[in-house]
Amino acid sequence: MRPSANIIPLALVGLVVTGIVGFIVVVLFISWFSNPPFGLGNAPAQPIDFPHTVHAGSPAEGGVGIACEFCHRNVTEGAAATVPAVEQCLFCHQQVNPENLVADASHDGHGHNDLAGDLAEMQRVVDKFNDNDPIDWERVHRLPDHVRFVHEAHLRFLTQGEPRTVSLPIGDGQPMQLPVPVGQACSVCHGDVASMEEVQPQPGQSLKMGTCVDCHRELNAPTDCTICHK
Ligand code: HEC
Ligand code: HEC
Ligand code: HEC
Ligand code: HEC
Ligand code: HEC
Repeated sequence: MRPSANIIPLALVGLVVTGIVGFIVVVLFISWFSNPPFGLGNAPAQPIDFPHTVHAGSPAEGGVGIACEFCHRNVTEGAAATVPAVEQCLFCHQQVNPENLVADASHDGHGHNDLAGDLAEMQRVVDKFNDNDPIDWERVHRLPDHVRFVHEAHLRFLTQGEPRTVSLPIGDGQPMQLPVPVGQACSVCHGDVASMEEVQPQPGQSLKMGTCVDCHRELNAPTDCTICHK
């Protein structure tokens, strides 16, 4: 047998092995960055720096104090909470924009130190509206397509009914007095969004199947597979 006949298959095996190892490395690399340990740092970059602190934060802390459901309009009525369209932002930013704010000497930028940056982001919102260009927000929380989740049922349970105390397997682990106002109900699964510059999934509030099923069991809600899987 000529020596080259052995070298060719060997070279092929080498290529295949390199390919497989490379593939595994790439997959590990992607899953590390898309799902870092401890569930932190998961927030995707957003097309506009939208601070919940400024909008939903309490006026006492320099926020505007807008109710969650003013923007997430469908949250008490349907499956998806929905993220507001740029038209809803213009409800205020038609007036609240750099043109009017720089003229107002008393403007303090709500304690932010980057006033120019804040104004530039605000101007981008107005430009998006004028250009008829939707803001493509990135999703922070997303369940796989085979799972069904309905905000309405959860908000009804947390914000309505007789006064009662429950222990939930999610959140801070303290017994909770129900019913609570809508804004507090969101915190059960999303944490204190009003104090977040950038919405982040919270540790201890991973929306994994185990958490959903534990809470359903604790509250005598249905646990059949077909409730959550379609
Ligand atoms: C109910 C009124 C209201 C609505 C609705 C609203 N905003 Fe604002 N927004 C404000 C006010 C007030 C400020 C603070 C202005 C200032 O600094 O004095 C602000 C500030 C901002 C800023 C500057 C960031 C900063 O730190 O000050 C951005 C960016 C912004 N808004 C984006 C949006 C987007 C995007 C929407 C729609 C999803 C939206 N806003 C909806 C009232 C509103
Ligand atoms: C002025 C409008 C506005 C108000 C008020 C507001 N939000 Fe939002 N919210 C947004 C926008 C715009 C986004 C998308 C950008 C982002 O993720 O930061 C968003 C994103 C979110 C997300 C992440 C959605 C995802 O992709 O998984 C959650 C959770 C959320 N908001 C909860 C709340 C809660 C809780 C409150 C009340 C404390 C609230 N929001 C008040 C406009 C608003
Ligand atoms: C029982 C847990 C739970 C509660 C309570 C809850 N959420 Fe959610 N939220 C989720 C889950 C799970 C998702 C991901 C849903 C999906 O991918 O289908 C989500 C997604 C979202 C989203 C992005 C997708 C969408 O539905 O439009 C927004 C915005 C949001 N929630 C806002 C809120 C607000 C505002 C409140 C309070 C009024 C709230 N949520 C209360 C669990 C919860
Ligand atoms: C805080 C506790 C809690 C958590 C966490 C929770 N659920 Fe629920 N869920 C409930 C309760 C209570 C009900 C029953 C509400 C009612 O009385 O209709 C319910 C009802 C449902 C329903 C039935 C809705 C309908 O009426 O069609 C679905 C689907 C569901 N949950 C999915 C999920 C999924 C998926 C998750 C995890 C991402 C989850 N839930 C997390 C408490 C919880
Ligand atoms: C209360 C809601 C809920 C119930 C009930 C439920 N699941 Fe799930 N399931 C989820 C959620 C949310 C996910 C996606 C998040 C995750 O992977 O943990 C999921 C994911 C899965 C997956 C995919 C796991 C993966 O690694 O991708 C399988 C398989 C599954 N469920 C099977 C079942 C079976 C079988 C039952 C009935 C014994 C069941 N589930 C009941 C909420 C539920």
